[in-house]
Amino acid sequence: MTTPVAGFIGLGRMGMPMSQRLLAAGRRLAVWGRTPGKLVPAVDAGATVAATPAALARGAEIVMLCVSDTDAVEEVVFGADGIAAGAGPGKLLVDHSSVHPLRTRALAARLEEDTGMVWVDAPVSGGEDGARDGRLIVMAGGEATALDRVRPLIGAYATQITHMGPVGAGQACKMCNQLIIGAEIAAIAEALNFAARFGVEAARLSDCLAGGWADSAVLQNHARRMAAGDYRTGGSAHTMLKDMTIACDMGRATGTPMPVTGLVAALYELAVAQGLADAGQIAPMRLYRDGPV
Ligand SMILES: NC(=O)c1ccc[n+]([C@@H]2O[C@H](COP(=O)([O-])OP(=O)(O)OC[C@H]3O[C@@H](n4cnc5c(N)ncnc54)[C@H](OP(=O)(O)O)[C@@H]3O)[C@@H](O)[C@H]2O)c1
Repeated sequence: MTTPVAGFIGLGRMGMPMSQRLLAAGRRLAVWGRTPGKLVPAVDAGATVAATPAALARGAEIVMLCVSDTDAVEEVVFGADGIAAGAGPGKLLVDHSSVHPLRTRALAARLEEDTGMVWVDAPVSGGEDGARDGRLIVMAGGEATALDRVRPLIGAYATQITHMGPVGAGQACKMCNQLIIGAEIAAIAEALNFAARFGVEAARLSDCLAGGWADSAVLQNHARRMAAGDYRTGGSAHTMLKDMTIACDMGRATGTPMPVTGLVAALYELAVAQGLADAGQIAPMRLYRDGPV
């Protein structure tokens, strides 16, 4: 018996290693990308290329997305030759992108109403290394039975998959994840700067605090890079601004005060305005450490 075909759209920094792990696990995978040349590593690993998102959806039972932002999700699903044009009852869309929870709800309702295709929002955390090593965590929203159908697939690149509620709940949890990381990055930049100005060796702070209550993946990863003056690697400042903006919007939508997230959003806005959109997500923290860039 052959395994059903899954489809993957958005083979970027995250989607490519996720697709490669699906292929390495023996899954039959169809892929589509608006820049076909970027699909080569997946094709080399055994993926077939669909002509359009609609064609991909027609031939696949499960369609997975990991594209940049909410507009990209909307375009791939409802644009010309989009997934909706090839969708139907029994098919399932799994969105691994980090996007707006309320817009996700609206898109999911429209897709199911128009075509019968069901939506699971399943954003991830763990970065490119986590995707490559199969150590992502997934926070999911949607029907539990729908999520259960795709757990074996997602298990190719994730160690933890948590169902958090109806459609949109996964994206809400991802925004919680992002606003915590954003605040941590900013606080760590202040701590490093203070330590250095006091004459303490800032580069040793991550080791010194390891295992204590301030320890975290951000302290062990981003702080080490900041202390070494490497502000380029990791997710982009533009992606963090996208997520901080969504978080602030959700704060307004739910009447939740978010002064810290608002401040962090302003730092990223400043960094992007200074031409650092493509720089690493810790780029704005150079403002703290070295003065205006
Ligand atoms: N990078 C991380 O560490 C990380 C971690 C967790 C979650 N995320 C989230 O995962 C998602 C993807 O991030 P990434 O870092 O993999 O980004 P990326 O490397 O920029 O990849 C984005 C992918 O989306 C495609 N895309 C964008 N707009 C599109 C459109 N309108 N139509 C069709 N395809 C489109 C891009 O195609 P082209 O190549 O043709 O532009 C590319 O394949 C984002 O929502 C991000 O917030 C990222």
